Amino acid sequence: MNFQKPKGTPDFLPGTVEKWQYLENTARELTALYRYREVRTPIFEHTELFKRGVGETTDVVEKEMYTFADKADRSITLRPEGTAGTVRAYAENKLYADPDVTKLYYVGPMFRYEQPQAGRMRQFHQFGIEALGSSSPALDAEVIAFGYDYCRKLGLKDVRVEVNSVGTAEIRANFRAKLLAFLEPMKEELCRDCRSRMERNPLRVLDCKIDQHRFDGAPSILDELDEECRTHFEQVRGYLDAMGVPYEINPRLVRGLDYYTHTAFEYKAAGIGAIDTIGGGGRYNGLVGQIGGEEHDQPGVGMALGLERVLIILEAQGVSIPEYAPLDLYLIGLGDRAEAETVRLVHAARAAGLTAEKDYQGRKMKSAMKSADRSAAREVAILGDDELDAGVISIKTMATGEQRKLPLGDFIRMLAEEKAGRQA
Ligand code: HAM
Repeated sequence: MNFQKPKGTPDFLPGTVEKWQYLENTARELTALYRYREVRTPIFEHTELFKRGVGETTDVVEKEMYTFADKADRSITLRPEGTAGTVRAYAENKLYADPDVTKLYYVGPMFRYEQPQAGRMRQFHQFGIEALGSSSPALDAEVIAFGYDYCRKLGLKDVRVEVNSVGTAEIRANFRAKLLAFLEPMKEELCRDCRSRMERNPLRVLDCKIDQHRFDGAPSILDELDEECRTHFEQVRGYLDAMGVPYEINPRLVRGLDYYTHTAFEYKAAGIGAIDTIGGGGRYNGLVGQIGGEEHDQPGVGMALGLERVLIILEAQGVSIPEYAPLDLYLIGLGDRAEAETVRLVHAARAAGLTAEKDYQGRKMKSAMKSADRSAAREVAILGDDELDAGVISIKTMATGEQRKLPLGDFIRMLAEEKAGRQA
């Protein structure tokens, strides 16, 4: 048998996994500053949640869900995104009872059945935040600023923020009619995707890269906004200006998910082939009511970044990512008694806060030294039976080649102190 992982899924091996830890650690540091707290929801949910939440006619629900029947014949779906599950958990656990804004975040795998390519996987990972319980435009601005800050904290350069207002469902219905009237005469000239989108989700037609040049005179949703939507959008922009978050208004920006109202936005960066969106989000007033019952409705706003895409761009931009913690000490025991003693010593070294490793393959001096070299240890400690009897141990500092003999009973404390000194 020759097993291979399913198409479009990752194995994150040592060497790569540290980069993921860096993405996640940085995410957690920032959520602490902004006061978002972690929520962990199931990897799978009832299919109905995504149909209702994300929208029946979206690509995600129509084409991309991993849906299956469980043993009791329930329809189950691997979560394609984090908002629907988070909102369900918020409603189901009555977090709406909190008089303050509920701020949640998640980092984890999502699943979409797509054609894999760079930055597009079937199992991918999102870092997302959701703020529930306020329709203040200041919260939209905070969420947009958060994603931008995250990119900056990681060291990403040239991230662009595009913002738009998609109004309310009613406004979109009016706009849809106007847009269709504009598109109808050119229908035959449009690409196949556009023609199919005209039927299912006409607002997304304006997103098309191929037919972009035909849309110069297209109606703009911003002209359709009512007073309330216009004011909300102006306030969001005002707050972004006040915070110094740079953004562009893109009146053609429509997101691929149905739940957005008012603000919609995306983070963009060049460097992953044809893909340039690394994250997105928006306001979703009404979604809590739809999922958890109208009587408990609460407004919400959130965003999610695709971490595969963030990582591809970090690497393309040559941003330095911290590596696996270096090794302080590698222990080699020569002779049976000395070898046995290194078992105790490596344990004591770790207890003293040193990263420590020993030889476990009973190697002779020469190949044990090669193994120590490969481990890139700062210090190699060699203990022979004679030294054990004399109560000393030989320490070699690999970078300089310097050798010294230290008291066996004290060398761990000394090395730990030296380490603390270097870090001070
Ligand atoms: P989304 O735009 O569907 O929004 O996904 C957010 C990000 O996830 C994308 O910008 C992209 O970086 C990443 N992503 C999506 N699909 C894939 C894939 N197949 N492979 C790799 N990365 C992918 C949402 O999911 C919303 N829930 C965001 C949100 C949160 N809105 C409000 N709150």
